[in-house]
Amino acid sequence: MKNLFFIFFITVLNFESYAQKFDNIAETPPMGWNSWNKFACNINEQVIRAAADAMVSSGMKDAGYEYIVIDDCWHGERDADGFIHADKEKFPSGMKALADYIHSKGLKFGIYSDAGTETCGGEPGSRGHEYQDAIKYASWGVDYLKYDWCNTGKQNAEASYTTMRNALYSAGRPILFAICEWGDNKPWEWAQDIGHMWRTTGDIYACWDCEEDHGDWSSWGVLKILDMQDGLRKYAGPGHWNDPDMMEVGNGMSVAEDRAHFAMWCMLSAPLIAGNDLADMSAETVAILTNKDMIAINQDSLGIQGFKYSSKEGLETWFKPLKNGDWAVTFLNRADQEHQVNFNWEDHQIEDPDFEYRVDFKNTLFSVRDIWAQKDLKTTKHALNARVAPHDVITLRLVKK
Ligand code: GLA
Repeated sequence: MKNLFFIFFITVLNFESYAQKFDNIAETPPMGWNSWNKFACNINEQVIRAAADAMVSSGMKDAGYEYIVIDDCWHGERDADGFIHADKEKFPSGMKALADYIHSKGLKFGIYSDAGTETCGGEPGSRGHEYQDAIKYASWGVDYLKYDWCNTGKQNAEASYTTMRNALYSAGRPILFAICEWGDNKPWEWAQDIGHMWRTTGDIYACWDCEEDHGDWSSWGVLKILDMQDGLRKYAGPGHWNDPDMMEVGNGMSVAEDRAHFAMWCMLSAPLIAGNDLADMSAETVAILTNKDMIAINQDSLGIQGFKYSSKEGLETWFKPLKNGDWAVTFLNRADQEHQVNFNWEDHQIEDPDFEYRVDFKNTLFSVRDIWAQKDLKTTKHALNARVAPHDVITLRLVKK
């Protein structure tokens, strides 16, 4: 009996040291769509299929978006053996059929659960059912799991997320693991080998510089979330990204604000997870979400987040190192008035505060592409003189000559 116990113990130990995060996933920031920001709990299989259809027909798939993620409220009940099922009224064809449909469009399928006893929406959580849920997701063809942190009591975050990581690994289907504990336990310090991305903040909402107080928690506007990323860039890189939350482009802010929001998420190497109704988008929303030059800055293979170089009277200048010695530059106008930008490149020596990148414009010449105007400007031999509208951006790609 003693021997048996010993063998069991060694087996468990070995398995635990063998389980790991799936490699070769999210080498660049994940791109996709999630149901929550627009639909909250009002989801069903038509809504999800329509999003998949629109991701293809709008050109988003061609621009690089691939994940269709169902957030909270898809759940039915657990059966007598403890396995989870989808809500039969919302998803009468079942999750496997929905996954097959999404895969048939050349897209990938994501789902949502929670490390606690219940999800934030009061649905069954994965606590105590991690391995069963992982087996179910793998059998449905899930490619992405967002794993939330409601109703977790005194659970240890690192241990809870490790358990689910191991469960996913043992189920055998490569699944992107998106940690969502709002930055409460500093996941950037421990999650690099556990998840492929981690939320850094509480929930976003479609507002420029706002806080919405819900009592014991708040949701945050774009600038508030942006400011909360301070100090985190050194933790991100290929396979493990800071996640400043899903986007609100197309959900009610002005076109300038949407453009600035998208530009900053690209500068931050953030996962680009759209959160609007893809089946009902304005031409401006499509143009923002599919701006290929902007997306190339987000998807750059160096995987280095941008940094704030200077800030004056609401005008911020951000730099992001890119492969082959290129740089992205964004002038962000947070203010309610127009700003004049006068940037004489040769007066500036840029030094990345966390990584080994630097540029002295006196010694290195770049051509300058305006990403949003889609035109070439004068080289960095000449000062840039331009106006940035309120709550808007100018984004440039500097291409090394
Ligand atoms: C939390 C998450 C959100 C969303 C909801 C669902 O608030 O942070 O992104 O998933 O739960 O209930």
